[in-house]
Amino acid sequence: MTTVDKTLFAAAEAVRARAYAPYSNFQVGAAILADDGKIYSGCNVENAAYPVGNCAEPSAIAAMIAGGGTRIKRIYVTGPGTMPVTPCGGCRQRIREFADLDVEVVSHGVDGEPLIQTLGQLLPHSFGPEFLGK
Ligand code: THU
Repeated sequence: MTTVDKTLFAAAEAVRARAYAPYSNFQVGAAILADDGKIYSGCNVENAAYPVGNCAEPSAIAAMIAGGGTRIKRIYVTGPGTMPVTPCGGCRQRIREFADLDVEVVSHGVDGEPLIQTLGQLLPHSFGPEFLGK
C-alpha cells in the first residue's frame, strides 16, 4: 500500500466509526483525495424514513465541495465484513460528476484484499456533465 492509500484507508475507517446506521447496522466510510491535495471523508447517515438516508460517498463529496475541493482524484470506500464495499449505483453516478473515468475507486472490507476499479469500469457508457455542455 502506498502512503496515500494508507492515509485514505485510515480516513475512511475513522469516519466509518461515526456512521449513523442503526437500521442496517452496516457502517460505511468514504475518503476522497481531491485536486487540492486534501482528504475529505464522510459516512452513511440513515433515517427512520429509510429512503432519505445518505450513503457515505455523497457525504464525502459534500465535505469536498464545502472544503474547496472540486475534483476526485482517488476514492476509498470501506465497510464491515470481508467483502469489498463497492459504491451503489446512485453513488457511482454521484462520483461521476466529480471524477474522470480513469479515476480509481478502491473498495475495502475490514479484512481481505481491496478491489480496485476505475470509475469507467464501475459505470460504463455513463451520462455526465459533458452531455450538457459542461
Ligand atoms: N451504503 C453506503 O453508504 N454506500 C454504498 O455505496 C452502499 C450502501 C450504505 C447505505 C445504507 O446506510 C447502508 O449502507 C446499507 O445499505
